[in-house]
Amino acid sequence: MQNDIKDVLYSEEQIIQKVKELGAQLSTDFEGRNPLVICVLKGAFIFMSDLVKNITVPLEIDFMAVSSYGASTKSSGVVKIIKDLDVPVEGREILIVEDIIDSGLTLSYLIDVLEHRGAKSVTVVALFDKPARRTVDLQPDYRGFTLPDEFVVGYGLDYAEQYRNLPYVGILKPHVYEK
Ligand code: XMP
Ligand code: MG
Repeated sequence: MQNDIKDVLYSEEQIIQKVKELGAQLSTDFEGRNPLVICVLKGAFIFMSDLVKNITVPLEIDFMAVSSYGASTKSSGVVKIIKDLDVPVEGREILIVEDIIDSGLTLSYLIDVLEHRGAKSVTVVALFDKPARRTVDLQPDYRGFTLPDEFVVGYGLDYAEQYRNLPYVGILKPHVYEK
């Protein structure tokens, strides 16, 4: 598995350090707000797990799974909810936890859905951001790292459902795609 990685972009230590910083900032900003923290499956599952351990204020967690129709490594903008939330969001302060923002289409759809359902506020924390590929005007409120326009795997992120268990984030070697 490690042999398929061309470059490690961020090590496990660098990611954990960043997640701690994000957690500390969110702890301050969400004091007294009892947020509903929503993990966008599957990619954000490791980030979610590490992040909530570093948020010190009371919160609830829930999970959503979405998939976009169309091309495999690109978002089509048509998003399907595969697993919905268990709890109503009306009047709640929402923190969406995303692995990576690429075109921004998935997130903009999710924000629309939650606002439509009457969320009091919707805040986004994304561990990774690829601003070069954005097709909608959307920025995360909190961001871990800005990435170049490369497909990355690890720390929850996959290629064909593989590599999610790598503790770091890296760029795949081309031969993996060409198999
Ligand atoms: P959009 O384009 O809607 O897409 O912002 C966000 C989703 O696309 C996936 N994505 C990636 N997954 N490595 C991955 O493993 C990447 O480099 C990558 N870029 C985008 C991801 O599922 C994210 O939620
Ligand atoms: Mg994803």
